[in-house]
Formats: sequence, C-alpha cells, structure tokens
Amino acid sequence: MPLTALQKFEQQIERQLRLLEARKYLIERRIERQIRLFEKKRDDIGKKIEDQFRQFERKKGIRLDDEVRFIRSWIERPLSIGAVTPSGRLLARTMARYVDPASEGPIVELGPGTGPVTEALVEAGVAPSRLVLVEFNAAFCRLLRSRYPEATLVQGDAYSLRRLLDNLLLQPAAAVVSGLPLITKPIRERLDLLRDAFDLMLPGAPFVQFTYSMAAPLPKRLGGYSVEASERIWMNIPPARVWVYRDQGSGIRDRKSETEYRD
Ligand SMILES: C[S@@+](CC[C@H](N)C(=O)[O-])C[C@H]1O[C@@H](n2cnc3c(N)ncnc32)[C@H](O)[C@@H]1O
Repeated sequence: MPLTALQKFEQQIERQLRLLEARKYLIERRIERQIRLFEKKRDDIGKKIEDQFRQFERKKGIRLDDEVRFIRSWIERPLSIGAVTPSGRLLARTMARYVDPASEGPIVELGPGTGPVTEALVEAGVAPSRLVLVEFNAAFCRLLRSRYPEATLVQGDAYSLRRLLDNLLLQPAAAVVSGLPLITKPIRERLDLLRDAFDLMLPGAPFVQFTYSMAAPLPKRLGGYSVEASERIWMNIPPARVWVYRDQGSGIRDRKSETEYRD
C-alpha cells in the first residue's frame, strides 16, 4: 500500500531525530573525553607544583603544609579559593589590627582557609572561643577544627550569612573579618553580604576585607557606610590591601544598575 504524505513526513522526522541522537551521542563522548583530559592535566600540574614545594622544603629544612593544602584546593576550585597561597603574616596582622580585642561579642571570620588571619586574631588577644569561623571547604574545616577546637565552626556558604548565623549568635558581633574572594562575585551579592554583616554587628563595628585588586572590593562612594583602607602590603604574595567598612546607620543606598556602583 502506498505511503500517505503524512506517513512519509513522519518517517523523515524519525530519520532526522535518529541522526540528531547519534550526533548528540558523539558530541557528548567528545566533551567527556575533553573533561577527562583536562582533569588529568590539572592533576599533573597540581602534582608538579606540590613536588616543587616539597623539594623547596627539603632544601630549606622547613614545612609548607598549609601552602600545599591551599594549592590543592585552588586547583580544585580556583574561583572560590581566589588565591594560590594563604595570606602572609603581615597581611593577616593588618587585618587583625582593625579588630578591638577588648570589644564585646563574637568575631566572625568568613573564608578563614588554613587560618592565618585566625592566628593573627588570636595573637592580637582575641579569645578563640569568641571566634565564629564560616568556611565551605571541607578540608579547611577539618584543619580549623583541629587547630581551633574552642571556636565555633560553621561549614557553609558565607553569602547566606543571615541564614547561617541568625540563630547562632547570641549577641551582636564585634567584627566581621573576611578573606572571601569578594571580587569574583557580582556587586549586588557583595552588597547583600555587607548588609547582612552590618545587620549581625554592633553599630559602627568593622567589616574587614582584604583584596589583591587595585580597586576597592565594595564601592567607596555609595553612602550609608564609611570606608577606610590600609597601605598596600607589598610583602604579601600577591600584594594586597585591607579595606574596612562601618555602618553609619542610614542604610546602604540601593541602586538599580550595576554600573552605578562603580567608583
Ligand atoms: C583567598 S582564600 C583566603 C583564606 C584565608 N583567609 C587567608 O587569608 O589565607 C578564600 C577562602 O574563602 C573560602 N570561601 C570562598 N567562598 C566561600 C563561601 N561562599 N563561603 C565560605 N567560604 C568561602 C575559600 O574556601 C578559602 O578558604
């Protein structure tokens, strides 16, 4: 029996769909192969860097465990780690200088990593039991738990700060100290984080943030908060600057477009 026009059309469509499926399968296999190649290369590069660190340790007779941990995490998630080495002592101490150890209330640290800023805070006189450490990397959390057993460790996303800490802080925080790679986030998310941090803190308490960027991590002239900055710390790899933001009580002004936030 001759095929109707509709049946012919259906057969054509089916053939096209089968061809499409076959092509899709090939493309998927090709992508998988590329991903496997990339992962292998990434692991090889990571191993090479780690070997170089170990050789340097043997030559100099020192241990660089935190640096190696950091490199490993950076290779896995470069954008969220945001740095290839932990902060140097000078940068960590500069961050800690903006926190008054005699103030009352918890001190929140966002993205403590392997803990160089945590160490500087404790050295400056902050009791470890006052520290609330918010970190999402599981390996860093394990390390922090063993190094600062008295601190409160929260494994989670610092950009959901209110949800994470609202029921945890029994009194307003005296400071929020952040090592987050803030500039990898859209400006609106950064401002939301700042607003959340201000809501959790005593009025006028500092939000301390470092950045490797030449530009301020949060807009300087937005209004509603005061801004101060340290000198550039050249002794850090890479050089960095510390920025401090304090709520002035009038609320962060809201703007519509991202470009309006630029300084
Ligand atoms: C640039 S490193 C700084 C680490 C440490 N504060 C220092 O100065 O060496 C950024 C840290 O923030 C953590 N981090 C990044 N995004 C985060 C997020 N959304 N929530 C919690 N931690 C985050 C990373 O895992 C990493 O430990």
